[in-house]
Amino acid sequence: MAYTKYHPVYLALEGRTILLVGGGFVATEKLQSLLPSGPHITVVAPWINDEVRALVDAGSIRWEAREFLPTDVVDYFMVIAATNNPQLNAEIYELGNSLKKLSNSVDDPEHCNFIMSAIAKSGPMQVAISSAGCSPALAQRVRNRIEREILTDDMGQLAEFLGEWRPEVKKSLPTYKVRQAFWEQVIDSQLPRTLASKGVEAANELFQSMLRRAILASAEPSSVDPKKVYLVGAGPGDPGLITVRAVEILRKADVVIYDRLVNPILLGYVSPGAECIYAGKERGTPGQPRQDHINTQLVQFAKQGKLVVRLKGGDPFVFGRGGEEALALAKAGIEFEVVPGVSSSIAAAEVANIPVTHRGISAAFAVFAGQEADDSRGDRIPWKAAANIPTAVFLMGVERLPLIVSRLIEEGRDPNTPIAVVSNATMSNEDVVVGTLSTIVDLAVGVRPPAVCIVGEVVRVREQIASLLLASLGQAAVAA
Ligand SMILES: C[S@@+](CC[C@H](N)C(=O)[O-])C[C@H]1O[C@@H](n2cnc3c(N)ncnc32)[C@H](O)[C@@H]1O
Repeated sequence: MAYTKYHPVYLALEGRTILLVGGGFVATEKLQSLLPSGPHITVVAPWINDEVRALVDAGSIRWEAREFLPTDVVDYFMVIAATNNPQLNAEIYELGNSLKKLSNSVDDPEHCNFIMSAIAKSGPMQVAISSAGCSPALAQRVRNRIEREILTDDMGQLAEFLGEWRPEVKKSLPTYKVRQAFWEQVIDSQLPRTLASKGVEAANELFQSMLRRAILASAEPSSVDPKKVYLVGAGPGDPGLITVRAVEILRKADVVIYDRLVNPILLGYVSPGAECIYAGKERGTPGQPRQDHINTQLVQFAKQGKLVVRLKGGDPFVFGRGGEEALALAKAGIEFEVVPGVSSSIAAAEVANIPVTHRGISAAFAVFAGQEADDSRGDRIPWKAAANIPTAVFLMGVERLPLIVSRLIEEGRDPNTPIAVVSNATMSNEDVVVGTLSTIVDLAVGVRPPAVCIVGEVVRVREQIASLLLASLGQAAVAA
């Protein structure tokens, strides 16, 4: 069952008139729930209990000490039947409902055109919980848990704080979308913790500086064009290595189609309403998204008017098939922009202290697709060039390492040439294995992709840096 009969809304009851028929325990509960919202409540009942009487004496409600009359419902905005007579309650409901009043016969869902929910509250934050009349007791349980675990005092204080700033933000930031992005940024920032631990003054200061920055940023014309598809590089893995431009675009995306090597943390920049579609391709695994399907998706989403981001590991045009996507978009007449990323082909060497070029050692480097290596001699790697270029970088090659090494040696590369295999570069599980062409296959036997292999004398720079560091640290220790 869909349980869609009831739609939750929050009624503004201040100054509204409510007729409550009955003066016992159930009526008391309704009064306690309704009175904080400021309605004018009239109780009609021949008898009322002490709690209701106390409210009458305090002037909080009016009491007419008599039986209910059918004409009573006419003047009220809301009618609640809370007598101990179910048949009378149902009749009161029918009368109210026929006059299009909000009408509720207590504990009788069949005779209600609205129901009241269990309310969890902290300051201005309110969560209304309903079980669609199935189990008010269970709804109460859920309410208690929300109050205990989520709607804590801090949350109420935060809502109040943000509420104070709301008019100022509305005045200062131009559009709904900009404001929404700003509020999300504030909520995800240090501000909630600052407010809870250091108080309102410190939080105000922080908020002001965030608002100033948002005002400055919104004054610049937005450089993200919703008509374009963005082919964006996500960097090699460390979320800090994505570009500022990429983040700016991700924040505005409606759809993000992302690859296997994209760090999922980066999807945190995408706004909550946007769609994130995984399109990772793993070689040899059936049921993988095909490139032409991805191309079609890019075109289709763009034609639906969505701001589409194709997010790729490293750089989109370095073995990223970004070129094919650009061609597909161009063919469909869709504008696109390529946002370069930090490519693992350079970054993996760098994090291992290996410069791909180095004065006096390497004046050129080239990047090869290692997975192309095969025994057929018809593969597409220019082995002669790979064997002769000062620095040869192989991506997607760790599984073909024996073949790569033997082909390089065959083409004349010295077997003593150093080689480094850097796996999971820039990530917490980064690993570097160093050897020579004649030793690396045994040394790197357990290394799994993703990995980059760097071949050339530049690998020795890593050792030089390490020994210089060691020497200077040793000197510092002796001096201390
Ligand atoms: C399909 S290619 C994509 C390359 C990507 N466009 C780039 O510019 O880095 C995937 C290969 O990149 C390399 N790679 C990507 N991220 C890596 C990382 N964090 N560490 C080591 N190698 C990585 C591996 O060789 C992997 O097999």
